[in-house]
Amino acid sequence: MRDAAPQTIYLKDYTPFGYLIDSVALTFKLHPTQTRVLSKIAFRPNPDAPDRRFFLHGEDLNLISAKIDGKDVTTRDVDGGLEADAPDAPFVWEAEVEISPSTNTALEGLYMSNGMYCTQCEAEGFRKITYYPDRPDVMAPFHVRIEGQDPILLSNGNPGAKGDGFAEWSDPWKKPAYLFALVAGDLINHPGQFTTQSGKEIELNIWVRPGDEHKCAFGMQALKDSMKWDEDVYGREYDLDIFNIVAVDDFNMGAMENKGLNIFNSSAVLASPETSTDANFERIEAIIAHEYFHNWTGNRITCRDWFQLCLKEGLTVYRDHQFTADMRSGDVARIENVLALRARQFPEDQGPLSHPVRPEEFQEINNFYTATVYEKGAEVIGMLKTLVGDDAYAKALDLYFDRHDGDAATIEDWLKVFEDFTGRDLSQFKLWYSQSGTPKLSVTEDWDASTGTFTLTFTQSTAPTPGQDQKDPKVIPVAIGLLNPNGDEVQATDVFEMTQASQSYQVTGLAVRPIPSILRGFSAPVVLDHDIDNDRRAFLFAHDTDSFNRWEAGRDLARDSLLAMIRDGAEPNALYLDSLQRVIQDPSLEPAYKAYLLGQPGDSELARALSEMGETPDPDAIHAASKAFRKAKAQALAAHLPALYEAHLVKGPFLPDADGAGKRALANAALSLLTKLDAGSAAQTQFDRADNMTEQLAALGQLIETGTGEAALAAFYDQWQADRLVIDKWFALQVALATPDQAAGVTRKLTEHADFDMKNPNRFRATLGALAGNHAGFHHKSGAGYALLTDWLIQLDDLNPQTTARMCSAFQTWRAYDEDRQELIKTQLERILAKKDLSRDTSEMITRILG
Ligand code: BES
Ligand code: ZN
Repeated sequence: MRDAAPQTIYLKDYTPFGYLIDSVALTFKLHPTQTRVLSKIAFRPNPDAPDRRFFLHGEDLNLISAKIDGKDVTTRDVDGGLEADAPDAPFVWEAEVEISPSTNTALEGLYMSNGMYCTQCEAEGFRKITYYPDRPDVMAPFHVRIEGQDPILLSNGNPGAKGDGFAEWSDPWKKPAYLFALVAGDLINHPGQFTTQSGKEIELNIWVRPGDEHKCAFGMQALKDSMKWDEDVYGREYDLDIFNIVAVDDFNMGAMENKGLNIFNSSAVLASPETSTDANFERIEAIIAHEYFHNWTGNRITCRDWFQLCLKEGLTVYRDHQFTADMRSGDVARIENVLALRARQFPEDQGPLSHPVRPEEFQEINNFYTATVYEKGAEVIGMLKTLVGDDAYAKALDLYFDRHDGDAATIEDWLKVFEDFTGRDLSQFKLWYSQSGTPKLSVTEDWDASTGTFTLTFTQSTAPTPGQDQKDPKVIPVAIGLLNPNGDEVQATDVFEMTQASQSYQVTGLAVRPIPSILRGFSAPVVLDHDIDNDRRAFLFAHDTDSFNRWEAGRDLARDSLLAMIRDGAEPNALYLDSLQRVIQDPSLEPAYKAYLLGQPGDSELARALSEMGETPDPDAIHAASKAFRKAKAQALAAHLPALYEAHLVKGPFLPDADGAGKRALANAALSLLTKLDAGSAAQTQFDRADNMTEQLAALGQLIETGTGEAALAAFYDQWQADRLVIDKWFALQVALATPDQAAGVTRKLTEHADFDMKNPNRFRATLGALAGNHAGFHHKSGAGYALLTDWLIQLDDLNPQTTARMCSAFQTWRAYDEDRQELIKTQLERILAKKDLSRDTSEMITRILG
């Protein structure tokens, strides 16, 4: 039974389960509406547990029979599962249940996607498969038998007996139920092979639907690169004979790290030059790495309870960031990660959904797979590494794997490893896990010419967040470099460890007043408040030896110019445009980095910047200023654009490597500016001759923006109508680039298109998610954007609560806007809350957003 009323679960209430499990045997008799699941589980009393209540989770299950030690047993239905009287001694539980995968639209538990059976059990989906203690601290080896007519039958672990209509799998490593997986269908494999550092041969497969075979090669290479990297950098070797990846079209998330059987959203694994952009390739490489890396950080060492989610996710995101930095450009990867952090995590941490990296309460755990747990969780690991140093980090990780292999661990366990290894007291550092909100770090400068002493005084403060009025000072590693007025570095990067509310950093014996470069490499996830003038920013933009801060200086100049344009119609800052024109010609900078120099803060980022300063953003004014600023950049760079564009067009066959991707990114950035001057003629040429999706999609976007995209959009649809992943792009681009007045109308029309399918999360996100991302369109003063998204969230909630709830975060910034818009949004939020049988997922999100 599902919970009647929403219940809040607290970290402080954790107690171990009353029993341990020695083995699990499952038999699946597959059928679209009447799948039978037989379970045989060997329990034994847990000496560490306070009580022996025998409670098993279960949801939407039809119980056929239950036995203990071979005898029928009476079970009692309780909230979220069943109870039975069990012996205070080892015993065997046997049950048979019936479930209906084909009607499971929530895509959690066992469900069907295009005729194929698949599972998603994290976080609490296994309870929709059979009765079980569905909690991550209960770990066991699984043996699985699948009976079904599908040619391919897969589960976790190593393959066992196999025959007509059945297959068996054994996973020797004990695991929690959330890592269970089963796949059955008519699938084709793209095979591969990997030899581990100790010489073990591993069979690799990427399983796809017929027709997708040509989209597997890149993912296979990414998998091999990940396996090698985890051996080289973390000393971690793979531990089964086989590693399978399956691509499914209907999936709530990007991918899932089930032991030996990773299941991927097809958008996160399938790639070909014709159908995937460079950004897609980069994301696929990162996700494959991420799920593979979970084999050690997540599977071999898992989480004691879901409050510890960042233990596996923050660490694994950190590891996939390191991998991407090694595979591609570290400088560019850092900019990308910080952009993502600011776009996703900062709004969350500064609004009603703000929560600690390790939350202390939740109603629905699916709502806590957030940018804070993931991205801020990864930043916290990065800070820890900065504080202890690379060498100590590597050795502490070895100790972590030694000490906790096979455990369901906690953040306390994680930090203790670092404390034991380094002798450092990390109790203050731990505040990064328990205190929510983005710290503001203010800095002032002082120069004493008589002694050559330069002083930076830092003050940290964090605004109150839901449930946390008082904030204590945190440990903040501030990376600082000093430059001479001629641009030479007088002091290389030094890490200042700030621990107090206010603290100074001093350098003496300097000949001239230096120019500081502060928070290099974005050494902590804070908002830096450093009141410096444009000349200083332009100096850093021209000379900073830290590539992140150099980019940041240009970005700050651009942002301040945009804010002045928004506030009082100022002209675009000539100093910025002039500096950009010079920096873009610097031959020592790589193309991918230059492409980021040509970017500018998006509308949402500008809105957040204004609200951080206590002002009310006007979406129309922001939109107009962004457009005018782009035009001004195009004019300022006019003389260089054609050459910049031509020089970076990549000739020859498409290779999805970092070098080619960087050139294409720069060519496309140049094209976007050129289009502001030539009304789309270069874009039309690129569209007509493009032989890869990176160039085709960029050109299409430019044509849409100039209002001349109709024919190209139709041609694009004709060309790609058979490819679901490309048609997702076709939906998303039209919505993302619709003008503010047309965005809601364009979106509504697309929801009426024959190819719109609300049950497919990718298509739903491509359409309604893109609307939420079109800032001026979504926040149109008519309220049409808010109303349309709400209509669809209300419909989707009955089918797929998880995806509905995630998309509610589109409303999280609502208090930043004017009273009229707040009123419009509030009406919609209340409309969602009033829906009959609203899911626990969505109800929790809306309640928190309303505050
Ligand atoms: N364990 C998650 C998948 C997951 C998320 C399951 C939420 C259940 C609920 C997986 O490892 C993951 O984090 N996937 C990310 C991609 C990753 C590269 C950050 C995803 O799916 O977006
Ligand atoms: Zn993950």
